Amino acid sequence: MSRNVLVTGGAGYIGSHVCVELMQQGHQVVVIDNLDNGSPVALQRVEQITGKRLRFIQADVRDQVAVQSALVEHGVDAVIHFAALKAVGESVARPLAYYDNNLNGAISLLRAMQGAGVTDLVFSSSATVYGDPRSNPISEDFPLRATNPYGRSKLMIEDMLRDLGAAEPNWNISILRYFNPAGAHPSGLIGEHPSGVPNNLMPYIAQTASGLRDCLAVFGDDYPTRDGTGVRDYIHVVDLARGHLSALARLAQHPGVIIHNLGTGTGYSVLEIVAAFERACGMPIPYRMESRRPGDIAECFADPSLARAELGWSAQLDLAAMCADSWRWQQANPQGYPDPS
Ligand code: NAD
Ligand code: UD1
Repeated sequence: MSRNVLVTGGAGYIGSHVCVELMQQGHQVVVIDNLDNGSPVALQRVEQITGKRLRFIQADVRDQVAVQSALVEHGVDAVIHFAALKAVGESVARPLAYYDNNLNGAISLLRAMQGAGVTDLVFSSSATVYGDPRSNPISEDFPLRATNPYGRSKLMIEDMLRDLGAAEPNWNISILRYFNPAGAHPSGLIGEHPSGVPNNLMPYIAQTASGLRDCLAVFGDDYPTRDGTGVRDYIHVVDLARGHLSALARLAQHPGVIIHNLGTGTGYSVLEIVAAFERACGMPIPYRMESRRPGDIAECFADPSLARAELGWSAQLDLAAMCADSWRWQQANPQGYPDPS
């Protein structure tokens, strides 16, 4: 069934990949993004990849009037909500900015949806809501415990959505908890270029390979893991994007609020990621050992079986593809997207 989908934050990293998948499957896409951390060039590239047009509205999701009129004007029948601030360290330094953007953004969007009579929603949550898990793999029924303002903003929105689903049973809400998104579209046209120094491992390695950074600092080699470095569940952004389409397609069959992990189920250490990237780019990645990063956990990987059973989705792309696609994007766009002007 072809749908009219509003994608908030669609000019960002994950949102742009979801737009591609939606358009390739014949859905109509409207993007709302304030371009705080997104680029209009990403949307042009989405059109280039798909050969189709989307509608773009530059607006803030906290502008309820703008969002509601977009929903009505474009006959939107489902929303995928990505728009948020997402840097953990920055959220500790600027908590009010994070609570304002993420919580008020979600409330404003939900009110606009109520006003327009749109009740199908897919929401970007994060494995960060599990905090430091008691064991791995992590399943959806594990205790929730966020440890920083960013994580708490995600947990609060999850709670808000559960309360809304209980109060108004006509809503169909899918909460997706992402593990570690990585890679880029295989075309090399869209990907991630963090502003400033990357916090996350994959973009830091890609920038080191391309000569923008001298050396990767490995944060800790004394964790209780197979080589002492942190283990994470890296998931190809295209697999992740396809998970959203599976969730969207199943909303009507699963009324109320449903929650799924989107991960591969396999954890890789920092040193294993370095080795895989070296194979992809054909060069050594210089690195040095440093002390642990505050707030980091040793190990985190998903039990993805619920998404397989209920959404009919599982990750298909491996670590080699994540590294190859990340490297292709990095080489073609060493400074990220060009200035649109
Ligand atoms: P991103 O920063 O690349 O994309 C977010 C987009 O939202 C940007 O284009 C930004 O301009 C826009 N935006 C932010 N606040 C807005 C607002 N108030 N109004 C309108 N637009 C706004 O981030 P991403 O990596 O694509 O992440 C997308 C979502 O997935 C976020 O909700 C993030 O918290 C969540 N998530 C990301 C990761 C990850 O590692 N990338 C992991 C787990 C969850
Ligand atoms: C970070 C966020 C988390 C978010 C996730 C996905 C923190 C504390 N947590 O988690 O909330 O959900 O990204 O976006 O920021 N590493 C290095 N050197 C680097 C960068 C990372 O050794 O320069 C290591 C880390 O210690 C970790 C692994 O690489 O073991 C992955 O790090 P990262 O990509 O930042 O993701 P997370 O730590 O999982």
